[in-house]
Amino acid sequence: MKRRDFIKTGTAGTAMFSAFPVIRSKKSYRLVLIGSGWWGNNILTEAIASGQTSLVGICDVDQKALTATQEHVKSITNDRPSSFTDYRECLQQTKPEIVIVATPDHWHALCAIEAIQSGAHVYLEKPISHTIEEGKAILKAARSNDRIVQVGTHRRVSPHNVSGLTFLRSGMVGKVSAVKCFVNYGQGPGKVVPDAEVPEGLDWDMWLGPAPYRKYNPRIHPRGFRQFLDYANGTIGDWGIHWFDQVLWWSEETHPRKVFSSGGRFVKEDHSDAPDTQLAIFEFEEFVLHWEHKLCAPNANESANVGCYFYGSKGTFHMGWRDGWTFYPKAKGHAPIKQAASLNDPDGQNIKELWSNFLSCIESKTLPICDIETGYHASNMSLLAMISYRTGRSIEWNGSEVLADPEAAALMRRPYRAPWVYPEV
Ligand SMILES: NC(=O)c1ccc[n+]([C@@H]2O[C@H](COP(=O)([O-])OP(=O)(O)OC[C@H]3O[C@@H](n4cnc5c(N)ncnc54)[C@H](O)[C@@H]3O)[C@@H](O)[C@H]2O)c1
Repeated sequence: MKRRDFIKTGTAGTAMFSAFPVIRSKKSYRLVLIGSGWWGNNILTEAIASGQTSLVGICDVDQKALTATQEHVKSITNDRPSSFTDYRECLQQTKPEIVIVATPDHWHALCAIEAIQSGAHVYLEKPISHTIEEGKAILKAARSNDRIVQVGTHRRVSPHNVSGLTFLRSGMVGKVSAVKCFVNYGQGPGKVVPDAEVPEGLDWDMWLGPAPYRKYNPRIHPRGFRQFLDYANGTIGDWGIHWFDQVLWWSEETHPRKVFSSGGRFVKEDHSDAPDTQLAIFEFEEFVLHWEHKLCAPNANESANVGCYFYGSKGTFHMGWRDGWTFYPKAKGHAPIKQAASLNDPDGQNIKELWSNFLSCIESKTLPICDIETGYHASNMSLLAMISYRTGRSIEWNGSEVLADPEAAALMRRPYRAPWVYPEV
């Protein structure tokens, strides 16, 4: 069989998909983890628990993260993986069949493409890329190498999100003309943390990789990179993509046709540079979507602090996270209808279910539920909003190109720091 014939793509392939297909055989896959921080370990734990992996390599640029993961692996499996600080060397030496990419966002494209080209199927964390053209390159690499790429948007397999989708599609909510996706966290202004000596065992130059050089700062690594625009895209890039993906899933749309975003740093006093307050409007054919991210204090009038409100002619439906979903009917005297969440510990996720879908799709050679193309479209919504935020203008988008605005279109990519080369489509 030619590799490009591996996946049954197109309508037939996707139509065969079911959220929890049965795994028929018990093949064990040679597994590598690239980025062994917080989330990488959450994925790794579920991958090992599936009983279908043999961990052959762990790669991180921070020795502390590598050591912690080695200890964790030792406590739950007999695997004795080699450890690496350069993902290219790791892939060459271990020849994995599956690679998990859970680095900070600015590394996703290079690591994922190298893994795909080495012949591995990839479980890639969201957002799939830091700029839009990187996402296109990952999608192209996945398709032309016939590899399965599952994106970590686990809400598509979360039981309450699945039943919520069925409820939304049942007509009980009526005609939905507007959706609001939001994240409100009552964090304070923060404070400036001085740059510091690079901690022992951390290869800071390799952590920065294709991003511009800057001195090490403990606020950036580990985990703090989200609020620094050289490595990520703030809260809309981190959290927004989860909820945008839910809206694309529900609407079966691939992209908005117009995007406008505004916001600023009105609260934060630290030296991160992502907006602490951001609004965005996305115009679709049949509805309008509104994103809102605020650092306001929690308040009784807005009991949910994350999720999507679907505003329908028969009531309002809230798709949440830890609080499950709730439908508030318009009809007087009708009590709200609720569905509790069913999430896995730690951190309230459904990685186990997503991993199971990933393995079954590798086996059946069909596209997974969070296929790279869905991750590409959902990630692009955050990235387009950030282009609008930066330019101060509405962005017209046809699903692939920014229209009639060369300055905005140029922000679909960014220069890479040498020797790293921007992945070409
Ligand atoms: N799907 C979800 O719900 C979910 C939840 C949390 C995080 N994430 C995603 O997971 C990714 C990682 O987030 P995190 O919170 O675990 O961050 P983290 O800082 O805890 O971990 C990232 C690790 O990657 C390492 N790294 C950096 N450059 C590397 C390179 N070139 N090669 C190998 N390792 C490298 C860092 O040293 C660090 O240990 C992010 O993209 C984030 O958006 C997804």
